[in-house]
Amino acid sequence: MTRGGKKWALLAAVLGIAGAVVVWRMGRGDTVVPEYVFRYAENQVSDYPTALGAARFAELVEERTEGRIQILVRSEGELGAEKDVLKQMQYGGIDFARVSLAQLGEIVPELNVLQMPYLYRDAEHMWSVLESEIGDYYLGVSEKSDLIGLSWYDAGARSFYTSTKKITCLEDLQGMRIRVQESALMSDMVEAMGARAVQTAYSDVYSVLELGTVDGAENNWPSYKSMNHDEVARYYTVDEHQRIPELQIISRHTWEKLSEEDQALIRECAKESALFERELWFQAEETCRQEALAAGTEIIELSGEEKEKFRAAAEQIYEKYCGDCMDIIEEIQKKGE
Ligand code: GCU
Repeated sequence: MTRGGKKWALLAAVLGIAGAVVVWRMGRGDTVVPEYVFRYAENQVSDYPTALGAARFAELVEERTEGRIQILVRSEGELGAEKDVLKQMQYGGIDFARVSLAQLGEIVPELNVLQMPYLYRDAEHMWSVLESEIGDYYLGVSEKSDLIGLSWYDAGARSFYTSTKKITCLEDLQGMRIRVQESALMSDMVEAMGARAVQTAYSDVYSVLELGTVDGAENNWPSYKSMNHDEVARYYTVDEHQRIPELQIISRHTWEKLSEEDQALIRECAKESALFERELWFQAEETCRQEALAAGTEIIELSGEEKEKFRAAAEQIYEKYCGDCMDIIEEIQKKGE
C-alpha cells in the first residue's frame, strides 16, 4: 500500500471505530455523554421540600437539554455548611446551591432588607413581594457577589423552640442561650430580644441542644421536625419572628461557561422548580407541625399583645440593617395592607 493509501485506511479505521461507538451507545439507549456535569449543594434531607425542588430542577434541566447538562444534587449538607458552600461557589468549586438568605446576606448585605423581623404579614404577603419588581431587583443584586440568583424558594416562618424552659412571654427569653445561623443579623435580632445568641452550623444544632450548650434554637416546622430537634427541644413557641426567603443560586464561574440559551433554560427550570417547592412547602408545614405534636411537642401560642412585645424588641435592628432603605421597607409593608 502507498503512504496515501495507508493514511486513508487508518482514517477509515478510526471513523469505523467512532461510528461503532456511536451506534453502540444508541443501541444501549444512553446516547448522550453530558457536556456538563454540575454539583448542587442542599443542606436539608433528601425528602425535604427544597431538596425535592432541587431534584425537580435537575430533572427539568436534564430533560430539556436531552442529557447535555446534568446536575447532581448533594443533599444533607454533603458538600458542607451553607457558609462554606457559598465561599466555594465564589471560587467556582460548587456550581449550584439552595441557601437561606440569612447566610447570603452576610456576603451581600443589601439583601438583608428582605429578611427583617416581622416584615411580612404572612406567606401570601411575602410572595406578593418576591414576585414583584422588588423580588426581581433583589434576585439581581446577588450577582454583585459572583453568585447569581435564579429563583426564590419558600421557608415559612421561624419561631423559637426550647429544651428545658418554655417561652410563654418575652420575659422568659431573657438571658436564654439561643442557637442562630452564622449570621450577624440573626445574632443581633435575638440579642435585641434579650437572649444570648450562639452561632452554630445547621448540622450541629441537634447536638448543641442535646448537650445543653444552648437552651433553644429557632426555625420553621419542617426544619424542626426533619432534623429531629423536637426530640431535644419539645417547647415550640409560635412567635413567628421572621420569614427568611431562600434562593437557588449558581456560581458566576459556572454561569459564564454556559451559552445564552442554556442560561435562559436554567432560569426557566429554576423558576418552575420553585413553584413546585412552594406547593410542597405548604403541605410540609402542616404535616410537620402535626407530626411534632403527635410526638410530644408542646405548642405555645402567644396573645396578640405579647407578640407585639416580641415585635417591638426585634424591630430595634431595623435602624442598623436598613436605616438607609426605609423607603423599600415601607413599600414592602404597603403590599401587606
Ligand atoms: C432553614 C434553612 C437552612 C438553614 C437553616 C438554619 O432550615 O432552610 O438552609 O441552614 O434554616 O437554621 O441554619
